[in-house]
Amino acid sequence: MSKIKVAVFGLGKIGIEYDLDSSYNWIPNQVKSHVKAVKDSIGFELTYIADIDISKLNNVKEVTGDTKYGSLEDILNLQAPDLAIISVPTPEHLKVFNLIRSAWPEVNYLIEKPMGNSYLEAIKILETAVASKRKIFINYFRRYLNNFQSLVQSYSFAKRGDLLEVFICASGTMKNTFSHFLDLIIFLEGQHIINTNNSFTVINKSSQKIILDRNRNCRFIFESTITRNSDFYMSMNYDNCKIVISKNGRVIDLMNTRGVSIEHFEISLEEFNNYQKTVLSRVYESLKLPADYEPIKDAVCIQKFIELVDLMDAQ
Ligand SMILES: NC(=O)c1ccc[n+]([C@@H]2O[C@H](COP(=O)([O-])OP(=O)(O)OC[C@H]3O[C@@H](n4cnc5c(N)ncnc54)[C@H](O)[C@@H]3O)[C@@H](O)[C@H]2O)c1
Repeated sequence: MSKIKVAVFGLGKIGIEYDLDSSYNWIPNQVKSHVKAVKDSIGFELTYIADIDISKLNNVKEVTGDTKYGSLEDILNLQAPDLAIISVPTPEHLKVFNLIRSAWPEVNYLIEKPMGNSYLEAIKILETAVASKRKIFINYFRRYLNNFQSLVQSYSFAKRGDLLEVFICASGTMKNTFSHFLDLIIFLEGQHIINTNNSFTVINKSSQKIILDRNRNCRFIFESTITRNSDFYMSMNYDNCKIVISKNGRVIDLMNTRGVSIEHFEISLEEFNNYQKTVLSRVYESLKLPADYEPIKDAVCIQKFIELVDLMDAQ
């Protein structure tokens, strides 16, 4: 297979800056941005980079080498690549997606999370992808990590029983940080678990804590920490075990109901710090397969759930 030609739209933090030091040189031993992931992955070629802010493009010239760069309009006048990565701010996702689609109807996409600025925007992107038979990947990166892949294949996980309670503690908003956990909940349990056709009751709702009951048999607790730390945490209590996700998703422990560890799924810090390269390797594999819209439906489901929670009042 020839190299997959890639255009990256939006050269901010996740576009490239996470991997650059203050002198615009690569930070060694990590791949946390899209541009570095493309440059470091054998199957891909960084063909174009685009941003509305020309200074951003000038700042990264040294590290992006002979990659063509320019404004969105300049780049969309050129020959279509195979994959467009959208890492512009969330309110711009749909607009940029539509511009790319008109210029390059055959391109596939990797889009940052959350998928759109609203549930409606996410649905529009999904429907367009299905109608035009384009492949789309959403960058909820943790589900692609090897520790999560191993967890879902484990015998103990298969025997977990029903989910009784989810506790999440993190800093940030539902849309930017908690959406990552919602993606993991769906990845582990399926869309039905937060599908809003289920009846949720609000037990408590404040800026620090939201407690919801799903059908009165599964409790969701979202707790906001004020200090921003990377050690965000999620525990899931089941009939037969407890799963604890810690160290930003790098470490997973599966315990029995008495808290004794049964299985431990951990990836090294180095592997975790290369998460964007891991995502791209999964994209590479998936591009060879028929389109799978389930992960995108998961991303749509997350947006619907977040909007529902926003509207719900404590009872
Ligand atoms: N997956 C993750 O863990 C993760 C982490 C960080 C950010 N994100 C998501 O990535 C997206 C970008 O976030 P960020 O923190 O990198 O933002 P940012 O503000 O750092 O960067 C956005 C870049 O897009 C450019 N831009 C804005 N509008 C544009 C347009 N119409 N056309 C071309 N370029 C445009 C800006 O000039 C800027 O360089 C957001 O949707 C955010 O939620 C995801």
